[in-house]
Amino acid sequence: MTRRKYVVGNWKMHGVSSDLGEIHSIAAGSASVSNVDTALCLPATLIERAARSVSILPIGGQDVHWADKGAHTGCISAAMLLDAGAKLTIVGHSERREGQHETNEDVRRKAEAALAAGLGVILCIGESLGVREAGQAVGTVQAQLDESLPHAEVSAAAIPGQFAIAYEPIWAIGTGKVASPADIGEMHSALRDRLVAAYGDAGNEIRILYGGSVNASNAAEIFAVDDVDGALVGGASLTAEKFLPIVQAASAA
Ligand code: PGA
Repeated sequence: MTRRKYVVGNWKMHGVSSDLGEIHSIAAGSASVSNVDTALCLPATLIERAARSVSILPIGGQDVHWADKGAHTGCISAAMLLDAGAKLTIVGHSERREGQHETNEDVRRKAEAALAAGLGVILCIGESLGVREAGQAVGTVQAQLDESLPHAEVSAAAIPGQFAIAYEPIWAIGTGKVASPADIGEMHSALRDRLVAAYGDAGNEIRILYGGSVNASNAAEIFAVDDVDGALVGGASLTAEKFLPIVQAASAA
């Protein structure tokens, strides 16, 4: 099965008004690569301005609450993201799982709420260094996926286009360390099995991205791995100069 490559930038807590020009450059460069889907997940404060001014590049949020509205100070709902012009959101990033104590159950509810509202979802999973060193990475991340996956009836309509998984080993995020192609391939294939177990044939259509220190120098090798359908890119998504070569590597893969 061929799945279109998908390269998504995650700006995390970076970006103010003066960075809108960079977003324009990323949008213009990405639009010229016609065989790759791209998106940029921005801080909430930039979503509306970016979405208004760069219609060619889908803009996303980095988290969403499962409730439509209510007494949840500091949170943002799917309806609010859509209202601001977002087309997608990340859920379950390890920086939120760790920093905000989000559980698999929280992540599943967020994914279900976002999909039901019509947002695309990138659901993140990944193991710590201790788990990898203990030889338990595959089983641990499979279980994390099983427990975080939206229930089939909620997500059926959204598969394949709207729903993607990002496998991000925690020890590879922002560290310059990248999982080996063999380890990435083993994990993605194990995750594919779980997606098919959950959704049947539709599970073959869900894209599985790799994330963790992806950059212009290692992207081609990562995209050559079976079952790697793209990348979730943090640090190297902050400038067009660093991000666009990754999009080009996906195009050539
Ligand atoms: P990184 O971040 O590319 O800076 O390692 C990836 C991510 O956290 O999504």
